[in-house]
Amino acid sequence: MCKKLILSSRYISKIDSFKIDSGKVAFALPSNIALVKYWGKRPVQIPENTSLSFTLSTCRTETSVEFQRKRTKDLGIKFSFLFAGKSKPSFEPKIQTFLERVEPYFSFLKDFDFVINSKNTFPHSSGIASSASGMSALAQCFVAIEAKLGGSFSESEQIEKASFIARLGSGSACRSLEGPITIWGSHPKIEGSSDEFAIKFNLPIHTIFQNYQDTVLLIDKGEKQVSSTVGHGLMHEHPFAKQRFAQANENIEKLSAVLQTGNIDGFIKIVESEALTLHAMMMTSQPYFILMKPKTFEVINHIWSFREKTNIPVCFTLDAGANVHVLYPEKYKDKVLEFIKKKLAGHCQNKQYICDYVGNGAVLL
Ligand code: PMV
Repeated sequence: MCKKLILSSRYISKIDSFKIDSGKVAFALPSNIALVKYWGKRPVQIPENTSLSFTLSTCRTETSVEFQRKRTKDLGIKFSFLFAGKSKPSFEPKIQTFLERVEPYFSFLKDFDFVINSKNTFPHSSGIASSASGMSALAQCFVAIEAKLGGSFSESEQIEKASFIARLGSGSACRSLEGPITIWGSHPKIEGSSDEFAIKFNLPIHTIFQNYQDTVLLIDKGEKQVSSTVGHGLMHEHPFAKQRFAQANENIEKLSAVLQTGNIDGFIKIVESEALTLHAMMMTSQPYFILMKPKTFEVINHIWSFREKTNIPVCFTLDAGANVHVLYPEKYKDKVLEFIKKKLAGHCQNKQYICDYVGNGAVLL
């Protein structure tokens, strides 16, 4: 049983009487890829630095939640979980923990039975973290149920609460509710930014960064040797933690300017440095670990020589794993995809890669 920690009374639901006894909600929520990385947190899911991400489109989780008022009231949270239509007991403890943690914010949770049905559009065990899309989809569904039952809030309040709730499931999940770019973590120069939920990057974005492409190269589909939770924890005693958090916050300011002016060289420098710094933190923690694989390095070198030869502004970023996200403006799509097919696909497991691009967050199904 996880300890319930009430962080913000603002999100506690107050429904006097339920408008309906049963119903169903369904949403698709995408994954996101951080350009300025979140790595290091304090309880509960409060980031040590501000992060910024592109919201994706095709890598998404589709979740529906059916709710039925309990005949006899009891004190438990009751749900059944189906993954792509089949029962998946291994996922249940994670959902149970999440629902117990968010229960103070959903006063109706113990009054209903829930049937949760989820599926991912990206290949199972592809090494792509499904926690961002999965947790944000779950959060969005429960906020939508609250609205249907009689919770009164505006559309923007619903998005904020869903982001707040998603954060309690998985930190980076709070950045998936909206798009194309979101920021999480309070920053003195970003108006409205908060540690508790993500906000949309609301300054004008230069056309070069609109509809940006992200081709995800599936380098290694194996289980990560070190989970994100453990990795975040290792930042507590990390010798470079203070400098890293300060650097990330500076990069937020620099990237914010770059996104507005369209300075693509500046973009590449920040984004690639952020990716390598994330992994440098892992390599310099105690205990140290490496999540990149030899093929990750081979791919990075190919990207660098292609960029030098062609002047096409393609760059890479990495998540907490070996997979490589290849980022580029839409107008170079054909040439970059040809390069990926010829030079990079061979480095992927079963030559697999996913063509994604920036999107706008939650979609009602
Ligand atoms: O959301 P978590 O706790 O799984 O942490 C994810 C952190 C990174 O994906 C490595 C970086 C980020 O900002 O998304």
